Amino acid sequence: MITKDTIDRIFETVRIDEVVGDFVQLKKRGINYIGLCPFHNEKTPSFNVNPARNIYKCFGCGKGGNAVNFVMEHEHYSYPEALRYLAGKYSIEIEESLPDPKELESRDEKESLYVLNAFAQRYFSENLFENEEGKSIGLSYFKERGFTEDIIRTFQLGYALNDWSALSDTAQEKGYKNEFLIKTGLSIVKKTDDIDTVKHTDKLLDRFRGRIIFPIHNLSGRIIGFGGRILKKDDKAAKYVNSPESEIYHKSKSLYGIFFAKKAIVQRENCYLVEGYTDVISLYQSGIENVVASSGTSLTVEQIRLIGRYTKNITVLYDGDAAGIKASLRGIDLILEEGLNVKVVLFPDGDDPDSYRRKNSSSSLVDFIQQNEKDFIVFKTDLLLKDVANDPVKKAGLIRDIVDTIAKIPDPITRSVYLKKCSAMMDIGEQLLIAELNKLRRTQINKTLPVNDVEELLPDILLPHAQNEESINIELQEKNIIRLLLNFGSNEISFSETVDDPDHPSGKKELVHKLKVSQYIVNEIVHDEISFENESYNNILLTYTKLAEENDIIDPQVFLNSENPIISSTSVDLLSSKYLLSENWNTMHKIYVPEEGSLLKDSVEKAVLYLKKKKVLGMLEDNRKKILESQTSGEDCTSLIIEHQRLEQLKVEISKNALGIDILR
Ligand code: CTP
Ligand code: MN
Repeated sequence: MITKDTIDRIFETVRIDEVVGDFVQLKKRGINYIGLCPFHNEKTPSFNVNPARNIYKCFGCGKGGNAVNFVMEHEHYSYPEALRYLAGKYSIEIEESLPDPKELESRDEKESLYVLNAFAQRYFSENLFENEEGKSIGLSYFKERGFTEDIIRTFQLGYALNDWSALSDTAQEKGYKNEFLIKTGLSIVKKTDDIDTVKHTDKLLDRFRGRIIFPIHNLSGRIIGFGGRILKKDDKAAKYVNSPESEIYHKSKSLYGIFFAKKAIVQRENCYLVEGYTDVISLYQSGIENVVASSGTSLTVEQIRLIGRYTKNITVLYDGDAAGIKASLRGIDLILEEGLNVKVVLFPDGDDPDSYRRKNSSSSLVDFIQQNEKDFIVFKTDLLLKDVANDPVKKAGLIRDIVDTIAKIPDPITRSVYLKKCSAMMDIGEQLLIAELNKLRRTQINKTLPVNDVEELLPDILLPHAQNEESINIELQEKNIIRLLLNFGSNEISFSETVDDPDHPSGKKELVHKLKVSQYIVNEIVHDEISFENESYNNILLTYTKLAEENDIIDPQVFLNSENPIISSTSVDLLSSKYLLSENWNTMHKIYVPEEGSLLKDSVEKAVLYLKKKKVLGMLEDNRKKILESQTSGEDCTSLIIEHQRLEQLKVEISKNALGIDILR
């Protein structure tokens, strides 16, 4: 683990304008810099870099963070990778501390597997380029398939000699342990399955023999496994042999090619999804670098989410045979359910992208994809309409099938766009489709949430409050409070109180006491035992409270530099000038420009009251549900109704702008 000292040193040294400046052209604008945002497409710059706070923020797409967040986002690095990158840039020496032995053991084991795989990759590649058998069989095979030497080296392709134990023997000689040879799956031990009883002298056999080798990389480019393809047609042997699952290789969670594709996926805002290793390489060589493969398994949710980290758009490229069509239909539904957009290209029956390129050319492959890319709905309709002909019953079934797919889309606006499209294509009234879709969604929802019919029968008092009030968006209020805490936590606000004073002619006097904003908020929120629903706001609140116990003044930089990316980006968001300048927080919700003391006090007090009000509304709503339940089950609900009245009263008090202290106790 990189030590805290090193991390601190990195944060002290890095300059956000320099770090960003390596990737984005920045122009000075006042004390800040601006440039074109690298995270979304724009023509006028809305990407801000603030050297004073050492943060960046795009007011177009909302992305923001510190220097570490920037490299993580831009280069798709993990946290430690980003730290190493920055340490390298500023020549900071990295100190590492030893993690606890258990973690070390599993990390060591993983590390050993990576190291062994890296060795095996070099070994296979050396075979391919330097060994006679490798050159004459492996390399010439790749060349025959039209792969350039460049692309072979990029994807680190290799060749496994046609020998029982060439790799295992070499690895053993070099001191690699049998345990890891077996755990990576590079070697197989015939005698026993029990790894613990394997001795260093046991004879190991190679898993990959006489095959060309495709190393499988993880996101950061390390090798997690291999696929080996047989060269000649052989009905007895499997066409592909793959590494087994291991501590570093989880087939259902990895995508072949993702390391090479991720940058292009972000740039082109799209990811092509193919079935095989050779399809990835073919497309990449043809200039379509944003391509990954599910490698023969049917597409999984984890794989879709992995793509979803880089883009919301997937284009599925599948064989036009029955299996390919079935796979693409299943893929479409899964992708839509994850909230991503999907297009489909079907290749002529019997062809995959790679064979298409071989029969034609790279450029015609690219053309074919462009010309045959279909919106999923067009794809599905075209495909299914073929079977339907003029049979009205079949047509009804088809429509239901398509609406069923549309119903899976989480976003209502996208859903309605596709319904319109479907209505036009199938020549059927949109209202009818909407009705069908609603029916489907209801049954889908019903599976998890039984609808409560009793609701209609209940007296007014039990109607949902949210209908009359502004909707209960507690998070927005929480956000506002954290915003005030981070920006003005150390500012003072004063409260005056009129107390009796017999010495004064009026018999009264004004007492003024001053309080830091942070003290006020901590008193009101934490001591009232209100916890925030949003995890990162709650996290910031608690951290702030703890820090405030020991420190007089808290530098918000602590939060900007947090190693928790959610905290750092949340605080960047809230410390960015947009929120300070906006006139409108609380009604989108009135924001108060708090240069002036009384305004600050006003906004802090109101923020706390607003939150408490929302909390009470939420509690009313929860209580209402409990009453509903007890009504349905016939239980006595007197105490719940008393609680209801108490909460109603609280609500009125808060609304009257009572100072709110103690109300929730
Ligand atoms: N696959 C596998 N095991 C098999 C067959 C296939 O793991 N026995 C996976 C491989 O990842 C392969 C993908 O499924 O790349 C697609 O299979 P297929 O279309 O049969 O192979 P291609 O990749 O097209 O290989 P080639 O073009 O060399 O025939
Ligand atoms: Mn193929």
